[in-house]
Amino acid sequence: MNDEMLDLLQDPYTQDRLELRNGILINPSNGRQYFCANEYYSFVNDEEIIGNNKKYSSLYDKIAWIYNLANRIYFFFKFGNEYKARSEYLKELEINNGDKVLEVSIGTGDNLPYLNHNSYFYGIDISKGMLKMAVKHLNKWKIPAYLFRCQAEKLPFQDNTFDVVFHIGGINYFNDKQNAIYEMIRVAKPGTKIMIVDETEKCISEIYQKNPFSKAYYQDKNEAIIPLELVPSTMEDISVNIVNDGLFYCITFRKPI
Ligand SMILES: C[S@@+](CC[C@H](N)C(=O)[O-])C[C@H]1O[C@@H](n2cnc3c(N)ncnc32)[C@H](O)[C@@H]1O
Repeated sequence: MNDEMLDLLQDPYTQDRLELRNGILINPSNGRQYFCANEYYSFVNDEEIIGNNKKYSSLYDKIAWIYNLANRIYFFFKFGNEYKARSEYLKELEINNGDKVLEVSIGTGDNLPYLNHNSYFYGIDISKGMLKMAVKHLNKWKIPAYLFRCQAEKLPFQDNTFDVVFHIGGINYFNDKQNAIYEMIRVAKPGTKIMIVDETEKCISEIYQKNPFSKAYYQDKNEAIIPLELVPSTMEDISVNIVNDGLFYCITFRKPI
């Protein structure tokens, strides 16, 4: 961790700046410590994760080992290949050389191969299993990225930090979607385009509720309501598209300057 990186961080619970001592991030006002293990700092303990966040982080911990392969096989049969499927929404991102790019819920890192590599990637996720696979993939693919474990509802970054902020695939079932959207806006620089993608009800009923790995977790399909009304009306260029053959929605908007 270098000084520039330290400058981007804050305590997600108190918003205090952090200090680095012997590889440990410390909040000097209350002494709370955040540790690095497996190549990422963690800003949340297992016992602090409750409700849906607990339910789905445990699902993703279980399926992390197969997530990338299962997606690739699914995308191959349904859309021809993974790039074709993902580019339907990734093409919305505006990534210039040198940009700081944050993926909220980075999962196993599978979007990064399709993005501009002359930028700086940052990713957060709640699931230790998914982060472990992200570390493995990104090392294998030689894509540098700074990874953190935290909840999307409490990001450990300073205000107005990132040039690009996006989220794909988890928000429908977050404990607090509204706060997660506020956090994405908070950490984005003014003028940044923010993208939020997740499954539609069609995806839940036709895929997740039929898949033996996931069906027990997706009984209540009412939760898959497109969270457009949670985007503050002060945002600019708010738009929603349905992509991937009706299986995903893609919301984009811009933080005003
Ligand atoms: C379907 S995966 C998507 C991963 C990746 N974005 C992709 O496109 O392949 C959803 C991810 O959301 C993460 N997640 C679920 N709830 C979360 C929360 N409250 N905060 C942060 N990440 C969360 C899961 O651990 C999982 O990695």
